[in-house]
Amino acid sequence: MLTRRNYSDLIPSSQITSESIYSERRFLMKLTASAVALAGSPLFAALSYEREKSDGGLELTSYDQITTYNNFYEFSTDKEAPARLAKNFKIKPWTLSIGGEVQKKVTLDIDQLLKLIPAQERIYRFRCVEGWSMVVPWVGIPLASVLKYVGLTSKSKYVEFQTLFDPKQFPAQRQTFGTISFPYREGLRIDEAMNPLTLLAVGLYGKELLPQNGAPIRLVIPWKYGFKSIKSIVSITLHQSQTHSTWNEMAPKEYGFFANVNPTVDHPRWSQARERPLGHFFKQDTLMFNGYEREVAHMYKNIDLKKFF
Ligand code: MTE
Repeated sequence: MLTRRNYSDLIPSSQITSESIYSERRFLMKLTASAVALAGSPLFAALSYEREKSDGGLELTSYDQITTYNNFYEFSTDKEAPARLAKNFKIKPWTLSIGGEVQKKVTLDIDQLLKLIPAQERIYRFRCVEGWSMVVPWVGIPLASVLKYVGLTSKSKYVEFQTLFDPKQFPAQRQTFGTISFPYREGLRIDEAMNPLTLLAVGLYGKELLPQNGAPIRLVIPWKYGFKSIKSIVSITLHQSQTHSTWNEMAPKEYGFFANVNPTVDHPRWSQARERPLGHFFKQDTLMFNGYEREVAHMYKNIDLKKFF
């Protein structure tokens, strides 16, 4: 469920062409890490990344599924369109500004950030509020490390994230009457932001993120519905009070600020008890906090989860 490996040397996508090659590399990394010479073991030949069980026994969703079935409303509301429309999206130059209630305001590019905080791989379940799910081998840095780097103050109670606003690049930002208001914004309470599971992802399957998945940097909060995992982030701002959340503000009865995955609290228009993993026909049961109850339930123990959904 949670793997920790140093990933400071992100391999350019040109050097990795398939999941199977990536699986070999993962395996080699494991070998290096444990310093056990297993080369020649039958395990090596048996590896295949697609449909491989991850360390936590999770079946990974294929790279193809993850990168072609997307929710990215700045491009389109159609799931297949972002992969096509994002082809020329410019992720360089790109800066991330961190400010508000912090000790040190900074503006960094992604390379600078990865030099400060080495990336690692995390295999997480991901559950969309719409009822589909996937398992993704993300590459990223813990948000907590970034926040520790800028330093919190006694007033840092909430964190707000904002997606790039660039109507030249995002077709939906040029529409006068769009579905949601832009820039896309999301927020977390400070303890949620500091939770070790919360990740700023820069890659998946060992490759740099593609624009349709939120390149060059996006949030991943595995115990919350996918809409909290905001893409293509340009700013992180610390606040004293609760911050904006695009979907929550648009339809507060349907999308809560917390948006914790909860099979016992239905969306007003559909059940949240089950989910369909991408690439599968049959549904499976949705897990409380998406399977991360042990790591996160303590943050909500005094809260009525039906009221604060
Ligand atoms: N971030 C932005 N900026 N715009 C979006 O439309 N969609 C959200 C989230 N982050 C969205 C976003 C939703 S609803 C989901 S389910 C996930 O991104 C989907 O991530 P994926 O396309 O990488 O699977």
